[in-house]
Amino acid sequence: MSELVSVEVDGGVATILLNRPPMNALNAEIQGALSAAAVEVGERRDVSAVILYGGEKVFAAGADIKEMERMSYTDMVQHAGSLQDFTRAISRIPKPTVAAITGYALGGGCEVALACDFRVAAKNAKLGQPEILLGIIPGAGGTQRLARLVGPAKAKDLIFSGRFVSADEALAIGLVDEVVEAEDVYAAARRRMEAYVGGPAFALRAAKEVIDRGLEVDLDTALDIERAQFAALFATRDREIGMRSFVENGPGKAKFEGA
Ligand code: CAA
Repeated sequence: MSELVSVEVDGGVATILLNRPPMNALNAEIQGALSAAAVEVGERRDVSAVILYGGEKVFAAGADIKEMERMSYTDMVQHAGSLQDFTRAISRIPKPTVAAITGYALGGGCEVALACDFRVAAKNAKLGQPEILLGIIPGAGGTQRLARLVGPAKAKDLIFSGRFVSADEALAIGLVDEVVEAEDVYAAARRRMEAYVGGPAFALRAAKEVIDRGLEVDLDTALDIERAQFAALFATRDREIGMRSFVENGPGKAKFEGA
């Protein structure tokens, strides 16, 4: 894997760390490494949940503008697919994920955060989709995932203006889920993810897939997806454990096996 991205696993929680100072600008190498890291944590049996983290100062200030500035239309025709692939790979991690946001999460950086299930931000964080100021639009999923998260009018406000949003405004519009002191961001994200360690891994995976896939299709099709996944969980050991534990000991005491 690239030196620009590392994966560390501790107590069932994986941390995918971006390491490209000063701004974690997302060049092609880091995009590829993020895709590989997403596949790795998705497959590893010792990982129950995942934190995306840019370090103590900055989450990521977007795609590498210096790299893009040199690209022609035909270069971008070839590259635009992989620009979406790395955020798609993050969004498809079949486990709970959270972005731990310090400093800036802009452009592609904001799009990485949008590809996670949850976002925890520092009080001094700034989020936004400033691509319009470069004469382009978000190209790593931002137009779609932002609109789905905060609604089309707020997404248009942010994408048309390119303005930065404070952590408090981000919380108010649902762009982030929790705001904490800067030095507590990683710990708060970790607390969220630790809640899923020892959980019913296949039910969590099914819940994520059904919610995400369901939002992409009409209600009837979404309900069909839910029905099939609901029934499929009756083939898991955790379903047996969960229901037997309830009958014998009452709610919330099951010791799941992740199988
Ligand atoms: N790409 C490449 N380099 C970047 C960068 C980026 N996205 N963001 C910052 N940098 C570089 C700066 O050029 C500067 O490099 P030098 O030291 O070599 O001059 C260094 O990082 C520090 O940046 P600043 O001096 O600008 O620091 P600042 O504190 O004054 O401002 C900032 C920080 C507000 C993040 C500002 O750098 C900024 O606005 N960055 C660009 C944000 C942006 O437009 N992101 C969208 C990119 S396009 C995209 O992401 C497309 C997509 O949808 C995938």
